[in-house]
Amino acid sequence: MKNGTVSMRVRRYGGEILLSEGMQRMRTFQQHGTTTVFAHCVHVACMSLLIAERLHVQVDERAMVRGALLHDYFLYDWHISRKDHRWHGFRHAGTALRNATRDFELTDVEQDVIKKHMFPLNPALPSYRETAIVSLADKICAVREFMTSPGAQARALWQAFRPSEGGGQE
Ligand SMILES: [Fe+2]
Ligand SMILES: [Fe+2]
Repeated sequence: MKNGTVSMRVRRYGGEILLSEGMQRMRTFQQHGTTTVFAHCVHVACMSLLIAERLHVQVDERAMVRGALLHDYFLYDWHISRKDHRWHGFRHAGTALRNATRDFELTDVEQDVIKKHMFPLNPALPSYRETAIVSLADKICAVREFMTSPGAQARALWQAFRPSEGGGQE
């Protein structure tokens, strides 16, 4: 195990993002099935670390986790039918990048992860291995979330990142 479990590393690298107002708002938006956008992004960050580890790919873990946590930072409920929610699948990566660069200081790798995570639906090729891994992790997590209800581990992470319960602050 590399410097802690994947959930420990997500908390370590993503603390600032996880506790931010925008990210906390994502608890109120549904993503796939009964999974919120917040939980989905945490799943994708954990899955990205697991994939890199299993495939023995050298990555910037901090950038990959931060990009994964913000990859769906579009900050609206895409299930609500509105003119500006049209073509969500194609447009939300750009919206997420605009919101994320407004709220956080991001590296080139982090921005690439957010902008291109919908590859190949959005055809721009990932420029970094971190982007390719997050894009793959996103698809695996989406399938799992559609097919299963949140498990005990997801609920534990959920609790851990709730500031009012003192999680994620140590
Ligand atoms: Fe997305
Ligand atoms: Fe996603």
